[in-house]
Amino acid sequence: MNYFSKIIGVGSFVPPHVYTNFDLEKMMDTTDDWIVQRTGIKERRWVDENTSTTDLALQASVRAIESAGIQKSDIDMIIFATLSPDHDFPGSGCFLQTKLGIPGISVLDIRQQCSGFIYGLSIADKFIRSGSHKNILLVGAEVHSKGLDKTPHGRNVSVLFGDGAGAVVVGRADVVNAKTDSHIMTTKLHADGAYAKELWLPAPGFAFPKERINHQMLDEGLHYPQMNGKTVFVHATKRMSECLVAACDDAGVTLNDVDVFLFHQANLRINSKVAEDLGIPESKVFNTIQKYGNTTAATIPLGMDDAIKAGVLKKGMLVASAAFGSGFTWASAVFRY
Ligand code: ACO
Repeated sequence: MNYFSKIIGVGSFVPPHVYTNFDLEKMMDTTDDWIVQRTGIKERRWVDENTSTTDLALQASVRAIESAGIQKSDIDMIIFATLSPDHDFPGSGCFLQTKLGIPGISVLDIRQQCSGFIYGLSIADKFIRSGSHKNILLVGAEVHSKGLDKTPHGRNVSVLFGDGAGAVVVGRADVVNAKTDSHIMTTKLHADGAYAKELWLPAPGFAFPKERINHQMLDEGLHYPQMNGKTVFVHATKRMSECLVAACDDAGVTLNDVDVFLFHQANLRINSKVAEDLGIPESKVFNTIQKYGNTTAATIPLGMDDAIKAGVLKKGMLVASAAFGSGFTWASAVFRY
């Protein structure tokens, strides 16, 4: 028996507290002008001290399961993409599973940062296609705000990131006509670890000689993300364009056929450049970075949910998605929603 998969439910959740660029001006010697011109971000959500990544994921998951019209007991696997896990181990999927109250099913945490959602979509698609699983909950969730250097020293990174969660349920699809029926048509996954240290969080780390973290590392700020922004920008625009074209070719569609482009939200300028380079009308690219910042593994499902609520993404539309992030990793997907 040949199985196909499709996205049958979508949900998202962002914490209520909005931090505008003007709020950040008071913390880290930055300006609204600088942030808007360089990144397109106007505001982001940051959690309160009692909220963790799996708390955000729980809300998004409940909404996605409800939107799928199934019971949580119908879920037979959780895939959790995050770079800001509740704890180093076990993975956040286990904590989310307990919060959802669905013990016993398989749980998989993945660590592909900004490309995590598309990597997860690819894994879910393969498990469904194999026939071993029927309804997979895929979550991308991040709490960045507790891990950022909010002093002037960290401003080049800290202004970019927000907290949030997005989730989808990937289920079985009946595909009679591969051109018109809803299903995941292709996913493309890539990485190049030679660039791992261009965007990374060095500590705590088991690679250090004696201890994972010490006072000296804290003094040096090694527990904050480090980024070479210009290198990331150049590679992101190139790789996202490449893998988007490759996914469309693989799916047997053209860029013109695509109704909605759901790109990772790292920087509005990256997405504008990709659209410009490929001749994609900006009106087909659905961006949310203005109000959420970069929520890493959450950006694509969060954007998808917003696009559905805004009436931009409708059942039966052709969607192309691409992401680039730390690793470096990059990935793309084409699916009919
Ligand atoms: N506010 C004000 N000034 C700042 C800030 C800030 N938040 N951050 C840096 N600056 C200053 C710098 O100190 C520098 O000052 P100088 O000229 O006096 O030395 C000046 O602004 C320019 O700094 P650059 O780092 O060269 O700024 P750049 O033009 O490269 O823009 C940015 C930085 C927006 C991060 C850009 O490199 C970029 O978009 N990179 C892509 C990376 C990205 O989007 N990463 C997101 C996470 S990764 C992912 O999700 C893929």
